[in-house]
Amino acid sequence: MLNVQLQQLLQGMPKAELHIHIEGSLEPELIFSLAQRNNISLAHASVEALRGAYAFDDLQSFLDIYYAGASVLLREQDFYDMTAAYLQRAKADNVRHAEIFFDPQTHTQRGVPFSDVIHGLDRACREVAQDMSASLILCFLRHLSEEEAFLTLEQALPYRSKFIGVGLDSSECGHPPEKFARVFARCKELGLHLVAHAGEEGPPEYIKTALDVLKVERIDHGVRCLEDQALTSRLANDKVPLTVCPLSNLKLRVFKQLSDHNLMKLLDAGIVATINSDDPAYFGGYINANFVATFEALPLTAAHAKQLARNSFEAAFLSRELKQTYLEEVEDFFAAI
Ligand code: ADE
Ligand code: ZN
Repeated sequence: MLNVQLQQLLQGMPKAELHIHIEGSLEPELIFSLAQRNNISLAHASVEALRGAYAFDDLQSFLDIYYAGASVLLREQDFYDMTAAYLQRAKADNVRHAEIFFDPQTHTQRGVPFSDVIHGLDRACREVAQDMSASLILCFLRHLSEEEAFLTLEQALPYRSKFIGVGLDSSECGHPPEKFARVFARCKELGLHLVAHAGEEGPPEYIKTALDVLKVERIDHGVRCLEDQALTSRLANDKVPLTVCPLSNLKLRVFKQLSDHNLMKLLDAGIVATINSDDPAYFGGYINANFVATFEALPLTAAHAKQLARNSFEAAFLSRELKQTYLEEVEDFFAAI
């Protein structure tokens, strides 16, 4: 058991969340209420039955259930309600800044207009995230084609001011980063920030090609980098942040148990690692639950907590001034304890 002081420290410290799929924040209760509102029938009879189905063998077995859950999102208000619920929970966890992934293709493929998706998400960020900051990152689904990613980018460009970057998610193995080389090059020209999931289930080579071909600024997950010593040194030397999601890695069986997780090794290697929730409604907890479970499983200390809080803001896509403000909040918090 974690001592009470360290637990309170983890919960109370200011932090940024940089790896949260907003569709992965849909709690079963909200899935059922949106299904009722939109007259959609679900495969499970009750909230309890749905939650009971959340046992995954790997990434794909999770994605199948995650996309089914997202099918209840039809109207702008649905996207607003989902995002508002996440932001309230984030605030309760002392998240001062959130960079929120969304998967527009999951919705536009079902006939939902892109404008409804982005307007709902953006309105919630502006209305609910008033005493924190929040930005959106549009993710391309890597199991779809690059041509479809280009079409999505075209639909998104009228709303260019409402998102800060693009990412790459969904089924990793068999869909290497270089499949999206041209669309990422275009996004770079447009001045968008670039990130990609790599080295979650996929090999360290995917992390290298995400860096070399896609020119990403951060790697989402990236935990398999430690299989390659030269890559590990490169990530540390170039200060390429990793957005690590411990409970996700546990639930998707990237690590057998949390005590096997390599987060501490990543930090010891000098990598700018951060802790995030990925899909909190599916993986058993929001960001503070990820911190507490990881610190319970590994011999991490208050010094690591401070490093992780600092890393989260160092890795964020924030103006120099706002980054400095948040980093000072971290310093003040730790100076006061
Ligand atoms: N989409 C939502 N969660 C994901 C994850 N952990 N990996 C890849 N794609 C995702
Ligand atoms: Zn993810």
